[in-house]
Amino acid sequence: MERITVQVNKPYDIVIGKNLIDNAVKYLSQFIQKRKVLIITEDNVNKHGYLDKLKYSLENHCENIEFLSLPPGEAQKNLKNVELIIRYLADAHFTRDDVLIALGGGVIGDLVGFTASIYLRGIAYIQVPTTFLAAIDSSVGGKTAVDITQGKNLVGAFHHPVCVLCDTSTFQSLPTDIFEDGCSELIKYAMIMNPKLLKELIEREQPLNKESSDLPEIIYECVKMKRDIVLKDEFDQGLRQLLNFGHTLGHALEQRSQYRISHGRGVAMGMAVFTKMAVTQQLIHKDIYTSLIQLLSEYHLLSEKPSYTSDQLINIMLNDKKRRTHQMTTVLPNEFGQCRLHVIDLNTFQQNFEKEWEQYEVHQRY
Ligand SMILES: NC(=O)c1ccc[n+]([C@@H]2O[C@H](COP(=O)([O-])OP(=O)(O)OC[C@H]3O[C@@H](n4cnc5c(N)ncnc54)[C@H](O)[C@@H]3O)[C@@H](O)[C@H]2O)c1
Ligand SMILES: [Zn+2]
Repeated sequence: MERITVQVNKPYDIVIGKNLIDNAVKYLSQFIQKRKVLIITEDNVNKHGYLDKLKYSLENHCENIEFLSLPPGEAQKNLKNVELIIRYLADAHFTRDDVLIALGGGVIGDLVGFTASIYLRGIAYIQVPTTFLAAIDSSVGGKTAVDITQGKNLVGAFHHPVCVLCDTSTFQSLPTDIFEDGCSELIKYAMIMNPKLLKELIEREQPLNKESSDLPEIIYECVKMKRDIVLKDEFDQGLRQLLNFGHTLGHALEQRSQYRISHGRGVAMGMAVFTKMAVTQQLIHKDIYTSLIQLLSEYHLLSEKPSYTSDQLINIMLNDKKRRTHQMTTVLPNEFGQCRLHVIDLNTFQQNFEKEWEQYEVHQRY
């Protein structure tokens, strides 16, 4: 079991280990004692029994425990569900002393976090991530959001959880492609700020998988990286934007495909296109691009290039949060295992992207 503290205004711990849900009360009792608890989860998670285990562990240690299970999928990260949860809380007389638990992947985490940020101007919530992606990225850092038809994550707030309980045993039930989606964020961390991790990933004999013995260490390493970035730039004014490497295009692909392209696959194509852009601009040697493509292929993250035109994608990207009135922040690699932010005017962004998207071809498909 590992514990990492995030020293923000109200510091919180991230606990990482096996079978933590079975002993959840050991880690969460201080947050639930004499309080009402609402666990929000989704059907795919529920069917593997994690909700029952969590309830069983906590039920005699809080005032009252209830749960809501939503259908799975990105489409659930919407304002309707925010309202549904809020009405549920109000009907059940939840007060500011009570607590929500998000049991699921990034979708449940983002939805519950955002709802917790606005109900009674903010109540406590606990993250219990059940996907690799949520464990290494979305459950840490306090960014919460839901999607609207105009764009992904356009309605959100900064609201840190009071605790993150990361039970690595829950990954056993993850389908391979969902585990691989998380690997896209892992490769992102390595590309933006960790040459050692990037080298290790490239040189691994076996690609990382949910059975890998070093999985907990890798989670620990990623969570520490995210924690350090968040501490330096809690409100996403600068450094934290590095975490958006591949995401501006990734989000546009997700949205344009009506979420048929997953977050991890969208981000993977985003990283590939923007790394190629860095080669075109002579910021990096072509070998870095080749290594990235090889790595993404090993994790089956490079899907076929969709037939969307650059104009269609640019239109969506210009709605992105990284856009300012006349400028756009892009994240480009500038060394092996290092990226930098580039603030460029919108016309230049448009021209650069158009050229890269037209020339982009998928090197290896799965
Ligand atoms: N807030 C942030 O900082 C941040 C960072 C990165 C990503 N995100 C968001 O996270 C979301 C993507 O997260 P995700 O990939 O976890 O998506 P997800 O929550 O949709 O989970 C992916 C799939 O795995 C299933 N699943 C979840 N846990 C399972 C388990 N233990 N066993 C079997 N199946 C399981 C889900 O039902 C779903 O089908 C996106 O909405 C993205 O915008 C947020
Ligand atoms: Zn992401």
